[in-house]
Amino acid sequence: MHTMSLQLGRTVFGDPANKGRVLSREDALELFNSWVLNPKLKLHMLQVAALMRSWAAEKEQLDEAGQWRWELAGLLHDADWDQWPDLHCKKIIEELEQRQIDPEIIRAIASHGHLHFGVIPETQMDKLLYAFDELPGLIHAYSLMRPGGYEGMDLKGVKKRLKEKSFAANVSREDIADACERAAIQLDDLIQFIIPRQALVAEK
Ligand SMILES: [Fe+2]
Repeated sequence: MHTMSLQLGRTVFGDPANKGRVLSREDALELFNSWVLNPKLKLHMLQVAALMRSWAAEKEQLDEAGQWRWELAGLLHDADWDQWPDLHCKKIIEELEQRQIDPEIIRAIASHGHLHFGVIPETQMDKLLYAFDELPGLIHAYSLMRPGGYEGMDLKGVKKRLKEKSFAANVSREDIADACERAAIQLDDLIQFIIPRQALVAEK
């Protein structure tokens, strides 16, 4: 989804003294709703947020606080894309730094597209946010063209769409492959993780 040069020019974010500091759900949603007006982008961000929470809970076995940190990174990762695309993702990073939020969350947001922002994903949170940025969009596009939506969607169908370069052409196959490699996740496993969990977000 990123087309222009958005290099951040730095690799250190936030203040280590703010470790563990997060926004409340209420404050996060207020920021989300006031900055992001495009319903399609909102849905994308909600999908990524839900996937991040699920991964934190199921694969990382994190407690509620940990799950919220992951969800928050997903919820706000594109917060500035709608109204300030040329400041993506500088603006949201600066906002979260000003609000003294945990550097782990800010770093994950800064590295969610390292080919564009120049920040390499290092932590598990960084890598999963990057991995969840592109593939869910293709899976969602696929659900919209299926009569039953997510119902009965399988791995084979998603992989077929992935191979069709013209299908959801803005979804970067290069980023998907790179993200899987960095996170050491098999593409098939990632697809199968996403389908049933994203289906729940779409129903809301
Ligand atoms: Fe995104």
